Amino acid sequence: MNTSQKELVKGTVPVLKAKGNDLISYFYQRMLTNNPELKDVFNIANQASGKQQNALTGAVLAYAENIDDPTVLINTLKAIGNKHVSLNIAAEQYDIVGNHLINSIIEVLDTAATTELIEAWTCAYTELAQIMIRNEADMYQKNSLKKGGWKGWRSFVISKIVAESGEINSFYLTPEDNKEIADFFPGQYVSISTFIPELGHKQPRQYSLSSNSNNEYYRISVKKEIGQTTPDGIVSNALHDKIVGDLLQVSAPAGLFYADPEAKNPLVLVSGGVGLTPMMSMVETNKNALQRNQTVWIHSC
Ligand SMILES: Cc1cc2nc3c(=O)[nH]c(=O)nc-3n(C[C@H](O)[C@H](O)[C@H](O)COP(=O)(O)OP(=O)(O)OC[C@H]3O[C@@H](n4cnc5c(N)ncnc54)[C@H](O)[C@@H]3O)c2cc1C
Ligand code: HEM
Repeated sequence: MNTSQKELVKGTVPVLKAKGNDLISYFYQRMLTNNPELKDVFNIANQASGKQQNALTGAVLAYAENIDDPTVLINTLKAIGNKHVSLNIAAEQYDIVGNHLINSIIEVLDTAATTELIEAWTCAYTELAQIMIRNEADMYQKNSLKKGGWKGWRSFVISKIVAESGEINSFYLTPEDNKEIADFFPGQYVSISTFIPELGHKQPRQYSLSSNSNNEYYRISVKKEIGQTTPDGIVSNALHDKIVGDLLQVSAPAGLFYADPEAKNPLVLVSGGVGLTPMMSMVETNKNALQRNQTVWIHSC
C-alpha cells in the first residue's frame, strides 16, 4: 500500500466508528444471501445478537487504526486465527468475504465511496487477508503434522453421556476411525458442527475440553440453553437430544486461553456457571501432574 492509500484508510476510521456496525450488518446480509453455503459456518445466534458484527467491525477498525504497523495486532490475529482454523475457514473464502465487504462499502457509503477510497480499501483488505491466510496455513500444517492431529472436520462417536447436573451433560467423544487423537493444553476448545434439521443447514459451536488430555477420548460438557425471553439455544439443545453412538464433526483443539501444564507457580482460577469447563481440565491436569504447589479456584453459580 502506498502512503496516500494508508491515509485514505486511516481517514475512514471516524466513519467506521459511527457507521461500522451498519456496514458490517449489511455486509453479512449480502454475503449470506449470495453465498448461503456460509450459513454452515457462521453462528446464526451471534448474527442475531450482533456479536459477530461487533467482532468483525472491531477487527477492521483496529486494522485501519494500525495500518502503519499492523504487527502490533499479531496477538489479536493469532486469536482470530485459532477460531478460524477451528472452523476450517479456507483461503478461498477470503475472496468471497473481500468481495462482499468491498461491495458493501460501495453500496453503503454511496457517493462517499470514491474510486481512490475503494482501491485503498481493496489493497488494505488484500494485505490483511494475506497475513491471516499465511498464519492460518501455518496452523493447519501444524495441526496436520501433530501426532493424532488433523485438519478440518473429523467424525467422532459419542461413546458416553454423563449428566453432571440438571442442565449440563458431558459427552465423551472417540474418533470414528479409531486412530490416535491429538493432545491439547488444558483450557483449549474444539468446534462441533452438527446438522440442524429445523434450519436445513449445519451450525458450529465451540466447547472447551473439560477433561485432562488423554489419548482415548475428548470430553465436552454442555449446558442446555433454555431461553427465557429469547429462543432456546440451537446447538446445545440439539446436543442434549443426541444419544450414545451418534456422530459429531469435531475440529482439532485450538485456543490461546490455557494453563501451562509444565508450570509450577500457583494457579488461581476464576469462573462462573458453565464457564467452569476449562477450569475442570486445568484442575484435572494439575492433579495428575502434581506440579503446582497451590491451586485456588473461585467459582460462582
Ligand atoms: C471458546 C468457547 C468455549 C465454550 N465452552 C463451552 C462449554 O464448555 N460448555 C458450554 O455449555 N458452552 C460453551 N461455550 C458456549 C457455546 O459455544 C455455545 O455458545 C452455547 O452452547 C450456546 O449455543 P446454542 O447453539 O445452544 O445457543 P444459540 O442458539 O447460539 O443461542 C445463544 C443465546 O442467544 C440467544 N438468542 C438466540 N437467538 C436470538 C435472537 N434472535 N435474539 C436474541 N437472542 C437470541 C439464545 O436464547 C441463547 O441464550 C463456549 C464458547 C466459546 C466461544
Ligand atoms: C480479513 C478478514 C477477516 C477478519 C478481519 C475476520 C475477523 C474475525 C473476528 C474478529 C472474529 C471473532 C473471533 C473470536 O470470536 O474470537 C471472527 C470470527 C469468525 N470468522 Fe472471521 N475474519 C475475516 C475473514 C473471515 C473469512 C474469510 C471467513 C470465512 C467465511 C470468516 C469466518 C468467520 C467465522 C465463521 C467466525 C466465527 C463467527 C461466530 O462464531 O459467530 N472470517 N472473524
